Amino acid sequence: MTSAGSEAPVGVFDSGVGGLSVLREIHAQLPAEALVYVADSGNAPYGEKPAAFIEARARHLIDHLRGCGAKAIVVACNTVTGLMIEHLRQHYPQTPIVAIEPAVKPAALATRSGIIGVLATRQTVASPGLARLVQAYAQGTQVLLQACPGWVERVEQGLLDGPDTEAAVAAYVRPLLAQGADTLVLGCTHYPFLAPVIRRLAGNGVQIIDPAAAVARELGRRLAQAGLAAPIQTEAAAGISFWTSGDTTRAADVIGRLWGRPVQPHPLP
Ligand code: DGL
Repeated sequence: MTSAGSEAPVGVFDSGVGGLSVLREIHAQLPAEALVYVADSGNAPYGEKPAAFIEARARHLIDHLRGCGAKAIVVACNTVTGLMIEHLRQHYPQTPIVAIEPAVKPAALATRSGIIGVLATRQTVASPGLARLVQAYAQGTQVLLQACPGWVERVEQGLLDGPDTEAAVAAYVRPLLAQGADTLVLGCTHYPFLAPVIRRLAGNGVQIIDPAAAVARELGRRLAQAGLAAPIQTEAAAGISFWTSGDTTRAADVIGRLWGRPVQPHPLP
């Protein structure tokens, strides 16, 4: 178990700003928890990079969060989870690690057509983690895996709407709809920020599944089990700090817009 106490923060990281879609669920469900968020925007997108590079970055970010006193870590990046979550858990046995992964199981339970689409990064689509999920939970369901290069970059730039973003989203969503998918899994934490565009394209008959709320619930359970849940009385004081490996002025702008209030990200060492 980690040596940090219940008043210590929870550390959350992603290749960039996508993990804010997980952070907002954690903050909504567990408002007493102090949070530290690291966006590795200087190195996004992970989904197009070699696994060894991604693992080195993930360790650097976890080391930083542990250095900030984090009592638990949330991997808000499906790409990291799919490629190396077991390695990371072995490397940090003292720290509870909660990780997001594509919602294949809920999608396989929800589909009526028997066809689901998983939208994810190239690395996630090819990852052993996703293959295991499909094998374990989607027997008898047709699973269409769709890599979406270019989407992460658009979200990193705050380009969430407009004709170019619509065209980029349509290029990967339309083929899944044409093949009969009635359930779409948002298998990358950047993609919930494109959900309004995906919804417009797909219409109301298609279910769009984002596992962020389930991750926040799992974090709450893990903290409670470990006796690490923040005391209620700290709620008013619970702070959220942001770090970025990208340009801090740009990060303040994009994170501020996605988070919905002004932020001052610190430069990641
Ligand atoms: N947001 C991340 C994920 O959930 C990684 C995106 C990327 O940098 O390629 O997979």
